[in-house]
Amino acid sequence: MRLRLSLVAIVLCLSHVSSAVAIPRHESSPDDQAHPRQAYGKIAPKVMIINMFYDESKIWHDSLPVLGKGSLLEKNITLGGLHPLHPHVHCTASGAVCQATLGEAEINAAASMAALVLGADAQAVFDYGRTYFLVSGIAGVNPKLGTLGSVALARFAVQAALQYELDARDMPENFSTGYLAYGTDAPGRPPTSFYGTEVMEVNEALRDAAFSLARGGSGSGSGSGGGSDYVGLADDDNAASYRAKYELATGPQGTHHANVYAAATAPPSVLRCDSVTSDNYYSGPLLSEAFENTTQAWTGQAAVTYCMTAQEDSAVLQVLLRAHLARRADFGRAIVMRAGSNFDRPPPSMTPFEHLRLLGQNGYQLALNNTWNAGSRIVAGILSDWDGVYGPGIPPANYVGDVFGSLGGTPTFGPGSVFGGRGAAADGSTYVGGAEGGAGKRALIGGGSGGGG
Ligand SMILES: *[C@@H]1O[C@H](CO)[C@@H](O)[C@H](O)[C@H]1NC(C)=O
Ligand SMILES: *[C@@H]1O[C@H](CO)[C@@H](O)[C@H](O)[C@H]1NC(C)=O
Ligand SMILES: *[C@@H]1O[C@H](CO)[C@@H](O)[C@H](O)[C@H]1NC(C)=O
Ligand SMILES: *[C@@H]1O[C@H](CO)[C@@H](O)[C@H](O)[C@H]1NC(C)=O
Repeated sequence: MRLRLSLVAIVLCLSHVSSAVAIPRHESSPDDQAHPRQAYGKIAPKVMIINMFYDESKIWHDSLPVLGKGSLLEKNITLGGLHPLHPHVHCTASGAVCQATLGEAEINAAASMAALVLGADAQAVFDYGRTYFLVSGIAGVNPKLGTLGSVALARFAVQAALQYELDARDMPENFSTGYLAYGTDAPGRPPTSFYGTEVMEVNEALRDAAFSLARGGSGSGSGSGGGSDYVGLADDDNAASYRAKYELATGPQGTHHANVYAAATAPPSVLRCDSVTSDNYYSGPLLSEAFENTTQAWTGQAAVTYCMTAQEDSAVLQVLLRAHLARRADFGRAIVMRAGSNFDRPPPSMTPFEHLRLLGQNGYQLALNNTWNAGSRIVAGILSDWDGVYGPGIPPANYVGDVFGSLGGTPTFGPGSVFGGRGAAADGSTYVGGAEGGAGKRALIGGGSGGGG
């Protein structure tokens, strides 16, 4: 209930003459749905699958007919501004399920998403008022939390490399990494100066419902972690032989040699843990642990929750947040799903370089397959429970949005709401200060922002 578009923003938007539909808000009760009038003639997808490159899309193109809801190649819609290699949005004949390929890394993801949800062509063709955006991609996986073929549903996406960086050979002797957050003088601290995209938090109740669906459950009722409904993911002997190399890992002295990488040695499963976004395709134990620490420090979680590393999720979510503010999409309907295709750090017997470039980890096809195995259950669940659950929407109980409180409410991380808890008004009038200091990038954030942090 904390995702509250400020009334100010709504009132201001009313002065716009716009063909856009009203976006249903999470605080509206089911009978308050007077507005999900699908704009006449527009395609109103129930699910938009978001992939980053061809193979990630191909598994959906090849497999979707299995669900009996049609093929994604029945409608190809050209939108200006999409990636040059992927200029079409693909949809089933009914338009209930669509798919777009963004291109890889942060710039492609943000540019293509902006064309997909905010572009003039998209506005003429699509009504995203009740659309679920399902990020379906492969990723690097943290062997402390998952393994090759594991599928994770994230609550947080953290733009972990958005920091100062010193080459490790140039850093002070007592630093554990060359990365330090903006405004700080030591690694491992949360930033005191923000760009806004550092942490994005999605609707946890929806995440939990998607988790339940992906495990083969009904998805209704949020996130029972119970195991009775569990349906396994695909596994593969070649991936199993690589993950077995992690069996030799031991914990720090005195921990009875507990294997810190025990999760890496188990068969793949569906997980709830978080996603790191970095343009830099980093690899190895030190960078991975540094960004594990970054994720923990920036989100304020008690435990390590970083399990997947990719190059797009923060960008996709930031554009959905902008689209929400522009009343073109509902940020509360974003689902971030990643499957591990490779480990972010080597097993103990191998150097980081051997692990990254010389030895095949054999997780690629398995991860692609499991985006389908888990993702198709999510899509099927959304379609089959549309009238009762997913059409009206699952209201978030957690804070939802960015580090600035742009959608309303106060984040539990970052500088606190810079909009006084009211969210960003269309004309900027609710900004109370604190997002950008007057003294350049080293300025401390927080004065007058009314938030903790
Ligand atoms: C859509 O594009 C795909 C290739 O990406 C093609 O195979 C398919 O026939 C096209 N569908 C239509 C209806 O033109
Ligand atoms: C490193 O050492 C310097 C000088 O003693 C000290 O001021 C600083 O706090 C230390 N930094 C860390 C990260 O331990
Ligand atoms: C991660 O944090 C732990 C605990 O503060 C610290 O011991 C470790 O050196 C950090 N790792 C890196 C690579 O910064
Ligand atoms: C992926 O799925 C295809 C089609 O079902 C199957 O032929 C292939 O063996 C699977 N590969 C892995 C590694 O799971």
